[in-house]
Amino acid sequence: MDPAIDSLVILADGQATPTNRSEPPRRPKWSDTLQYIANPEKFCRDNLAEYGPIFKTSVFGGTTVFVGSAPANKMAFNGDNSYTTIGLPATTMEMFGEHSLFQRPDLHRDRKSALRPGFTGRMLADYMPHMHQVLGEHLQTWPTDQPANLMAIIESAAFDLLAPLLLGIRLDQGDAVLADLPITTKAQLKQQYKTFFDGFYGLVNWNIPLTTFGRGKRARAKLIDFMKAVIAQRRQSDVVATPDFLSMMLMAQQDNPDGVFNDTLIANQCLLQLWASYYEVSGLLASWMYQLGEQSDIIERLRTEQTQVLGDSPTATLPTMEQLKQLTFLDATIKETLRILPPSSTATRTLTKTVVLDGMVFEQGWNIIAEPRIAHAMEQHFANPDAYNPERFLSEQGEGRAYEFIPFGGGVHACLGAQMAMVSNKLFAIHLLQAFDWQLLGKADFVQFPLRKIKESYQVQLKKRG
Ligand code: HEM
Repeated sequence: MDPAIDSLVILADGQATPTNRSEPPRRPKWSDTLQYIANPEKFCRDNLAEYGPIFKTSVFGGTTVFVGSAPANKMAFNGDNSYTTIGLPATTMEMFGEHSLFQRPDLHRDRKSALRPGFTGRMLADYMPHMHQVLGEHLQTWPTDQPANLMAIIESAAFDLLAPLLLGIRLDQGDAVLADLPITTKAQLKQQYKTFFDGFYGLVNWNIPLTTFGRGKRARAKLIDFMKAVIAQRRQSDVVATPDFLSMMLMAQQDNPDGVFNDTLIANQCLLQLWASYYEVSGLLASWMYQLGEQSDIIERLRTEQTQVLGDSPTATLPTMEQLKQLTFLDATIKETLRILPPSSTATRTLTKTVVLDGMVFEQGWNIIAEPRIAHAMEQHFANPDAYNPERFLSEQGEGRAYEFIPFGGGVHACLGAQMAMVSNKLFAIHLLQAFDWQLLGKADFVQFPLRKIKESYQVQLKKRG
């Protein structure tokens, strides 16, 4: 059910706020940013317990209201062009460049519609043979004679899974394929990408090589040069419809040269989509595998479902999209991981107007962050929220409603790659469950910010299944 926010009032500039209104509780503290960055989970949980699902902080400067209740999430997600603007830090916005979906609310709808075919429907089904092959090959190389570093093996597989689909390059024939491009090895490409990613979270806006931000900007420029060269190479051999995101955009450009896709936008979108997906998907796969490591009964149930839907050799042939849909219990376990361990926060918006939601005033100029770490921990949204219980997502129970389950955001900026993330995790699960048993080696520590992921030193012991 969609939560109604018919009691949302947007005040005109200069209009007096109603007298019988309340304000979000809690006095912002100078230490809020440090505490949030150090442990967003604890920050959200402690304040939820003390103040409820809406509370005021000074996170990232100014007044920042954290929200988690469904009507407040909906308010945060849907204010573009009306009462909110994107409220990300200046460093992040500069790293996006001018062609992200966050930069130009006036062009957002057209750009999003044009990009959507690259991550959904037929295109997504066309990506599956590549995904299936890469996962099969990677898992064959995973070590069983010694403990494996979980994040390292997963990030390596996720890069080979996503980079060819999103950048339109081949990585299956060694570095020779990259020889004529400005970045000539996969190792360099990964490194530039990491530096680019880190640049998003540099706190100092100085564009010099000494700062994380400055290094990120340089990496971005190199990656854009790289993408321009990839596009030029594609054109030399005539643009043909290959199953990747770059090809989708180049074909759309050919069909409509005056449409959304110009060359700068295409190069930028490739970069941004890999940014939006690589670390998020890696974090999700590792967390899912980690969570299941303690749930042998659930693993058995997943294997039974897999056999029922895909037969005795689930990885022997490529599953169809329809078969993936039938893996409903697997779907529920992935959602439960996204609920308990959401990789990131969602909307960060700044109010351009004062709004009153259910009698509570949110002042013009304040920031709002919609937090899955609050929404997913609320009894009103999820029964017994601290318990691991994938059953809650099966249709009979019907939890996980819009604006209550928000790992992929919601509203106008809802994640474009949500289906692609789910398909990646499902294919990964099919290969993993077939190939290995795994044992957790102790409790994992997580990097919490900017994205949640298991620390690199964490290991698991894999055992080949007979
Ligand atoms: C586990 C995986 C993923 C998670 C948790 C995730 C999470 C999110 C969230 C929370 C947002 C909303 C941000 C906001 O409202 O400010 C978002 C937006 C977005 N995501 Fe994802 N994402 C994932 C994977 C992907 C993938 C695989 C792609 C594409 C290849 C992708 C592309 C995008 C794009 C393009 C947007 C912006 C949409 C817009 O502004 O309209 N994401 N994602």
